[in-house]
Amino acid sequence: MARTEQTTLGIGMVGYAFMGAAHSQGWRTVGRVFDLPMRPVLAAVCGRDRAAVRAAADKHGWADAETDWRDLVARDDVQVVDICTPGDSHAEIAIAALEAGKHVLCEKPLANSVEEAEAMASAARRAREQGVVAMVGFNYRRTPAMAFARRMVEEGRIGAFRHVRISYLQDWLVDPEFPLTWRLEREHAGSGALGDLGAHIVDLAQYLSGETLVGVSAIAETFVRERPLPGGGSRGTVTVDDAVLFTGRLASGALAFFEATRMAAGRKNSLRLELNGERGSLAFDLERLNELSFHDHTEPVASAGFRRILVTEPDHPYLEAWWPPGHALGYEHTFVHQARDLVEAIATGSDPSPSFADGLQVQRVLAAVEESAEKNAVYTPVPAQEVP
Ligand SMILES: NC(=O)c1ccc[n+]([C@@H]2O[C@H](COP(=O)([O-])OP(=O)(O)OC[C@H]3O[C@@H](n4cnc5c(N)ncnc54)[C@H](O)[C@@H]3O)[C@@H](O)[C@H]2O)c1
Repeated sequence: MARTEQTTLGIGMVGYAFMGAAHSQGWRTVGRVFDLPMRPVLAAVCGRDRAAVRAAADKHGWADAETDWRDLVARDDVQVVDICTPGDSHAEIAIAALEAGKHVLCEKPLANSVEEAEAMASAARRAREQGVVAMVGFNYRRTPAMAFARRMVEEGRIGAFRHVRISYLQDWLVDPEFPLTWRLEREHAGSGALGDLGAHIVDLAQYLSGETLVGVSAIAETFVRERPLPGGGSRGTVTVDDAVLFTGRLASGALAFFEATRMAAGRKNSLRLELNGERGSLAFDLERLNELSFHDHTEPVASAGFRRILVTEPDHPYLEAWWPPGHALGYEHTFVHQARDLVEAIATGSDPSPSFADGLQVQRVLAAVEESAEKNAVYTPVPAQEVP
C-alpha cells in the first residue's frame, strides 16, 4: 500500500523523560525506515506539569499535550497508549487503556508486584479477544544481535542448553551522595537493581533459551541505606536493593547465573551474556551491540574457536531497512524496532511479543528472587501459573 493510503495509528504517550525521549525517537523514525501497514502519528504526550509537557511535546514532535493520563486515554485520535512512567502507575494506566479498547505498550518491569502484573495480564487477555494488543518494553530483544542469537538457537546451532550467564552492570549509585530518586523507593519502583536491570536479563535469558526459569536462589544487598532527598536538605531511607546475584534453573535443567547492580564502578551500561549448549556457544556484550560471538563446537577442534559475527547484514533481523553492511546501529534503534513490531502486531492481529503474560512471568521470577534473598538464598520455585 502506498504511504499516502496507509491507515494512521494515533499514539498517546505518558511520561516524557528518559524512556519518553527514547520512545518518541522510535515513533518518529519507524515509519520513515520500515514499510509499515499503518502510519504512526504522534498524537499527544502526557505529563503532570502543563508548561513542561508542552515543551516536551514540541521537543519530541508530539502534536498535543495532556496533563491527565485519563484524558489521553479518552482521546479519539489515540489508538495506542505508550506508558513511560515509573512502575507505580503502570497497572492503573494500562488496565484503563485496555478497557477503553486501546492498544498498550508498557515499559518494563511490567508492574511493581505480581498482583498488579496478574491484573494487567488478565486485562490484556480480555482485550485480546476484542483485537487489542498489549506489549512490554523489553527493548534489548530488539537488538539485531539478540534477535539473531534467538534465531540461531531456534535453528539448533548451539544445541541443548547447559548454561546461561548474564550480568547487567551500571555504576550511577556508587556515589553515596546521589539523591534518593524514585528508583530508590520501593513504593515507586517496586525493587532496585532487580526490577530495573534484573528484569531485562531475566527476559533475555527466557527469550533466548525459549524456556522459563523454574526456581531461583538469590542474595541481595543495599550498600548505601540513606541518601540525600532530591533538592537537598535532609536524608531519606533507601528501600530497594543496590545489587542482586542469583542462580536459576531453566525448565530443561540448564543452569543460569544472573548479576544486576548499579554499584559496579566503571561499568556504565554493561550487559554481557554467554549461552553454552551441547553444540556450541553464543556471547554478546551490549557495549559492542553490533557483534555476536559464536563458537561451533562441532568443528574440528584444531581450528574451532569463538568468531565474531558482525550483525549488520540485510539478512539479519531488522537490518533489511537500515544502512549498508558494516554501518552500525545503536541503542536508540531498539526502540524503532519495538515500535515496528507493535505496529505489525496491531495491523496483522497477531500476538505481541513480549506479551503482558511474558511480563507477568518475569514478575514472578523477580518476586521469587526477592523471597529467596529475604531467606538468604533458599531455593525458591517460580510458580508456573497461567494468567488468572
Ligand atoms: N527499556 C529500558 O531499557 C528502560 C530504561 C529505563 C527505564 N525504563 C523503564 O521506563 C519507565 C520510566 O523510566 P524513565 O527512566 O523514563 O523514568 P524518568 O524518571 O526519566 O521519567 C518518568 C516520567 O514519568 C512521568 N510521570 C510519573 N508519574 C506520572 C503520572 N502519574 N502521570 C504522567 N506522567 C507521570 C514523569 O514526569 C517523567 O516524565 C520505568 O518503568 C523504567 O523501569 C526502561
